[in-house]
Amino acid sequence: MKGIVLAGGKASRLYPATLVCSKQLLNVYDKPMIYYPLSILLECNVREILIICNSLNLALFKNLFKTGEDLGVKFSYIVQKEARGIADAFILGEEFIGKDDVCLVLGDNFIYGNSLKSTLSEAVKNKEGAVVFGFHVENPYAYGIVEFDENGNVRSIEEKPQKPKSNYAVPGLYFYDNDVVNIAKKIKPSARGELEITTVNEEYLKKGRLKVKLFEKDIEWKDMGTHEDLLKASNFVREKQSGGKELIACIEEIAYEKGFINKSTLLKHGENLSKTEYGQHILKFVEGK
Ligand code: G1P
Repeated sequence: MKGIVLAGGKASRLYPATLVCSKQLLNVYDKPMIYYPLSILLECNVREILIICNSLNLALFKNLFKTGEDLGVKFSYIVQKEARGIADAFILGEEFIGKDDVCLVLGDNFIYGNSLKSTLSEAVKNKEGAVVFGFHVENPYAYGIVEFDENGNVRSIEEKPQKPKSNYAVPGLYFYDNDVVNIAKKIKPSARGELEITTVNEEYLKKGRLKVKLFEKDIEWKDMGTHEDLLKASNFVREKQSGGKELIACIEEIAYEKGFINKSTLLKHGENLSKTEYGQHILKFVEGK
């Protein structure tokens, strides 16, 4: 399976912080925002990862992740010239995806919880159609919203509905079979001029090939699109990591656990970052503490 992190867009809701720096490079407590969605792809055992960003930030992303060798993965980069919508990722990524399945994660999505690993491994096993998720929100006007019938089957899915039919939002994590490329090429832009991911999901739904799995109650999902969201996510991570209990989205540790890198490479990462709690956490992990 291939993986895509969509980190394009202007992030105008975060101006002036994002006037010259991509939102996905802003820090969420102690690490760049993109580490959180990237950790999800690594957790899914994805080793070929495409980062889609705008031209202004391409050099920064390349500088941060380089080829991916240090993490035992391979990064590719593509510039999205205009914000043409989430589904544009599959058109831009057509060659990269090739004949594979693909997992797309939005670069500003934060997903955390004990049940996340099992949720992801279930989704990875799916080889047919699409798997997306549902998460209960208080503001259903802002998201893709999924409606269920009395038997729990998906009845409809709508983007930012004015009259939401449920409170279940679809977070920015999507698993598709290879048909997604052709579907993305065929759909028409929405009223806001974007190729909506919700339109792609509707196409799968029409064919009876869309699975929507509600996140377990322990899962926390945040879209970090505003200053308020960003601060809340930072505080959440700070709280969880306090006392050195855990290190959320430590991409080096996940790469090691997945067998992508060996212990000496992990040790090097820890040493390079040793002035930080992040680095010290890695060093303790290497020592087996
Ligand atoms: C996008 C999608 C929406 C999804 C949300 C998750 O919204 O269009 O369906 O629920 O991401 O973060 P946007 O970021 O374009 O407002």
